[in-house]
Amino acid sequence: MRMLIKNGTVVTSEGRQSADVLVDGRTVAAIVARPVGGSGLADRTGAALLELGADETIDAAGRWVIPGAIDTHTHMELPFGGTFAKDTFETGSRAAAFGGTTTIVDFAVQAKGRSLQEGLDTWMAKADGNAVIDYGFHMIMSDVNDESLAEMDRIVDQGVPSFKLFTAYPGVFLSSDGEILRAMQQTAGNGGLILMHAENGPAIDVIANENAAAGNTDPIYHGLSRYPGFEGEATNRVIRLAAAAGVPVYIVHLSSRDALDAVRSARGRGEKVFAETCPQYLFLSLDDLGNGFEGAKFVCSPPLRTKDHQEELWTGLVKDDLQLVATDHCPFDFAGQKELGRGDFRKIPNGLPAVEDRVDLLHDGGVAGGRITPERWVEIISTAPARIHGLYPRKGTIAVGSDADIVVYDPEREHTISAKTHHMDVDYSCYEGRVVKGASDFVISRGEVIVKDGAFIGPKGRGEFVKRDRADWVRRN
Ligand code: URP
Ligand code: ZN
Ligand code: ZN
Repeated sequence: MRMLIKNGTVVTSEGRQSADVLVDGRTVAAIVARPVGGSGLADRTGAALLELGADETIDAAGRWVIPGAIDTHTHMELPFGGTFAKDTFETGSRAAAFGGTTTIVDFAVQAKGRSLQEGLDTWMAKADGNAVIDYGFHMIMSDVNDESLAEMDRIVDQGVPSFKLFTAYPGVFLSSDGEILRAMQQTAGNGGLILMHAENGPAIDVIANENAAAGNTDPIYHGLSRYPGFEGEATNRVIRLAAAAGVPVYIVHLSSRDALDAVRSARGRGEKVFAETCPQYLFLSLDDLGNGFEGAKFVCSPPLRTKDHQEELWTGLVKDDLQLVATDHCPFDFAGQKELGRGDFRKIPNGLPAVEDRVDLLHDGGVAGGRITPERWVEIISTAPARIHGLYPRKGTIAVGSDADIVVYDPEREHTISAKTHHMDVDYSCYEGRVVKGASDFVISRGEVIVKDGAFIGPKGRGEFVKRDRADWVRRN
């Protein structure tokens, strides 16, 4: 099958041009610029185009043609807080596609006392035959010991070159400084990357328990117990551990000025430190947590911060101290699941739905909001995730030979985010009623149109596991 996407403006992280894109099978075959008043592929309706033989033509006039977005932080079906994140690989990946995302990188979990391989196999089985877009995995390490350290090398060889460790959740996921250092040392040898959830969990527990004992049980106390300084301290600590091991480190879901300061200082010292933030930290705030038990809808970790942190994070994105925005998509129904923590904020499952909304929120608040260029937007939703997480140039750009993961995006179309119309399998939206400018009209995954006219038209389970490359880019940059 050959597909011609004509008359659009191709926007990559490198720049934009009026050009036609020819897709042949799964990959991009040609990008032909349309000189002003001249002709590109689209206008060569005679012999040349027939020779090319496009089976399908999409007219992208007035729209942008961008690389499919990549969300490198999702949690489909994650067991957490006595329940499971509600989206399956099927529902979550379909919702992602509606929102212009054509690849996700989810987190496989090592169960305590079990092998990394068993955890990876379990998550592979959840995604295989269900995901509708391509997917990769990071590995959450629950145990750091001689066996799991040796096993890391074999996991890297299977195209899973990144491992998440936590300073955050005592009794659930928590590694000591020594364990973190050992895992980082191991990646010095195997080319992997340690991703850190950096909050000082034991300190947070002291404050959270004090609050609960004083009868402060509403969701707002989730936010008020997890001080930004506890995130800043842990971020600085893991950065120092990475420097000691002589390896890059990647901070996930960075939420506060305090943590950003630690990242900025390290990058100023020339250290290879990378970080993502998430839409919730750019658009939502502690105020959202403060509406009685409704606030449970907004409980995630790190928590939402006071509004003044938001502009700092936008500045971090503009200046590239933050390289990308991922969602940390981890949805729990308000009814039934978030309910588990009524009367005790410590029992509210942590996580928010976002996989469908990221691209449009970032376009609306970033590009339409005048904070970032369209090129930078493409970079933070697609190109940087691909580069940092070993998918580039197969994904994250539109170039000859790249996977034809392409979105025809209308930067002018407004729509209203609502749980009534979203496709994530969760009974609320954090952005209910928010009008955003920008929407995906066509979503193409490896040369197949999977979203068109507001409908998903791909078959179930068409997504493929993508082996990611070793984390070379973060070592070089
Ligand atoms: O609240 C969150 N972030 N839930 C998902 C688990 C994690 O820490 O990423
Ligand atoms: Zn985390
Ligand atoms: Zn997460």
